[in-house]
Amino acid sequence: MGKIRCAVVGVGNCFAGLVQGVEYYKQNPGMEVIGVMHPIIANHSIHDLDFVAAFDVDAKKVGMPLAQAVYAEPNKVKWVKELSSMQGVMVKQSPRLDGIGYYVDQIIDTVPERDITELKKEILSELGEKKVEILVSYLPVGSDKATKFWAQVCIDAKIAFVNCMPSFIASEPEWAERFRKAGVPVIGDDIKGQVGATIVHRTLARLCDDRGTKIERTYQINVGGNTDFINMKEQERLTSKRISKTESVQSQLRQRLPDDSIYVGPSDFIPFLSNTKLMFMRIEGRMWANVPYNMEVRLEVDDKANSAGIVIDAVRLAKIALDRKLAGPIVAASAYLMKHPPKQMSDPEARAELEKYIKG
Ligand SMILES: NC(=O)c1ccc[n+]([C@@H]2O[C@H](COP(=O)([O-])OP(=O)(O)OC[C@H]3O[C@@H](n4cnc5c(N)ncnc54)[C@H](O)[C@@H]3O)[C@@H](O)[C@H]2O)c1
Repeated sequence: MGKIRCAVVGVGNCFAGLVQGVEYYKQNPGMEVIGVMHPIIANHSIHDLDFVAAFDVDAKKVGMPLAQAVYAEPNKVKWVKELSSMQGVMVKQSPRLDGIGYYVDQIIDTVPERDITELKKEILSELGEKKVEILVSYLPVGSDKATKFWAQVCIDAKIAFVNCMPSFIASEPEWAERFRKAGVPVIGDDIKGQVGATIVHRTLARLCDDRGTKIERTYQINVGGNTDFINMKEQERLTSKRISKTESVQSQLRQRLPDDSIYVGPSDFIPFLSNTKLMFMRIEGRMWANVPYNMEVRLEVDDKANSAGIVIDAVRLAKIALDRKLAGPIVAASAYLMKHPPKQMSDPEARAELEKYIKG
């Protein structure tokens, strides 16, 4: 099978983790590929993702070779010294729109803004020239306008869209219909990490529910030290992230918890944590004879290692959709890989549906 021609918008830490991880396995060919569901999906290995175009707004990244831009500050991932892939690919300008929030604006310089119609023309021409098949969006939380701009670009260019962030496209019926009508597949929204806060919380909440206990209250607090967490200090940008994370847990319970009995959210930025993300979760409930119990979990993970393998799977699953000429949200892939899919399922159910989808 040939390569999958991809583009990325948002050359941040997550993208750095994805491409440096692939390079790591390339440099260690005998090593077992950990972190993806299947080493091969529809004949494609992790080495078949070919990023041929990239877009950003950071002055340290735009106009730079992509293989160097992934190392530019404030990106933190440095798992391999250099990349052998993506040679000759230059990072092009994206419209800023609402991509950069108040706090991130203090630490990066952005390229001067340009007329959006002109930029869109250039973007469409770059995507066409490079024969891009799939666009991965790693835009920051709160970039609703920028996400809609790029979703529309995908529709116009007939390129599949993998939406890794929590502005709702695949799970928003109006946008889902637009993709369906255009004959373009979409997987989203908001990556569910490999063993991240969301999957751990929803799995344990479901366990407590399935075992017949009554959950009375639960919270999940996350802290980290990268740009994603600086950005999430701005509460106004967090609305959809909170919905995405909270609904992901609520969807696993037979009876929804009242809104004031569940708190799920990123909570603070601790600079020295860098890409380490800490999650603190608590479930309080009652069991037989009304006797109380509680459970506390502390999870410590590299936030970027946690997301990259999931996106590598998402891209290969989007490629299957393109090959089979499927359009609109890819329901099973979204349910298994994303926090806020068009249809929530339990994780075992989503996995079973996904295996069926892969087999066709
Ligand atoms: N485990 C995880 O890492 C995880 C899980 C779920 C979701 N996500 C989401 O993935 C997204 C990316 O995370 P990250 O850690 O790479 O963030 P990041 O802040 O490191 O990277 C974002 C990149 O987008 C660029 N950008 C900002 N506005 C732009 C615009 N208008 N056009 C083009 N580029 C723009 C920034 O310059 C930066 O390079 C975030 O929304 C995050 O919440 C990550």
